[in-house]
Amino acid sequence: MSRNTATVLMIGDVVGAPGLRALYALLPSLIRRHDADLVVANGENALAGFGIGADEIAAMHSYGVQVITTGNHVWERKDAPDLLEREQYVLRPANYPRGLPGRGMVQVQGRHHEWIVINLQGRRELYDIDCPFAAADALLQAAQKQHPHAIPVVDFHAELAQEKEALAWHLDGRVAVVAGTHTHVPTADERILPQGTGYLSDIGMTGPIDSVIGMKVDTCIRRFLTQIPFKMEIAEGDAVLMGAAFTIDVETRRCVAIQRIFETL
Ligand SMILES: [Fe+2]
Ligand SMILES: [Fe+2]
Repeated sequence: MSRNTATVLMIGDVVGAPGLRALYALLPSLIRRHDADLVVANGENALAGFGIGADEIAAMHSYGVQVITTGNHVWERKDAPDLLEREQYVLRPANYPRGLPGRGMVQVQGRHHEWIVINLQGRRELYDIDCPFAAADALLQAAQKQHPHAIPVVDFHAELAQEKEALAWHLDGRVAVVAGTHTHVPTADERILPQGTGYLSDIGMTGPIDSVIGMKVDTCIRRFLTQIPFKMEIAEGDAVLMGAAFTIDVETRRCVAIQRIFETL
């Protein structure tokens, strides 16, 4: 890509030790190959599938992830409030009720360019939190004032493609990227909306491939057969890294190319 473009790698939910291993092994070469200016990865499942801890945060940063986004699972660890307060580059969805620890937006300097990363969560088949559409409007208004030259990108952690598509259209031309996370299943619907927002409903997960969304297959089948919520554990074996590279024209802040990533160890 030319000097007037910048690429952000958005990496799908990192699931447990296999996900971290995949990041360690595959991310450096992906960064080189895409000449990435910024790497954002969702870490809500990094600690054994449920939440993220200080060790996982340190590991992800050391592998090249600048900003860690999260989602509904981030609250499942006791030390989550402390971590979210302390770690400037670990976000939680911005539209949780007022007063909760942490933040859902951060300004970050990439290799050559300034970015704004926003983390939001959907409400359909999830929790009845604040409106992600209104939250995005308020955040973008603030960002525009404080960091007028930064390139805004969004991790929208949501279950339903309808809600993700609607948010992307709502933000078309105001953010460079809306990348969906949470389902752990990648979609193939990448497109650039008319005003320049690059969109993909779900960028998938980074974790064990022989699994049910990263978890042990046997337990998941038993849960469905019996309707008993047996404790789920991370699957073992080979891992896959999923995500997408979004290339942005830095003058217009429009997305000009989207490439899905699906790399196995
Ligand atoms: Fe997840
Ligand atoms: Fe999630």
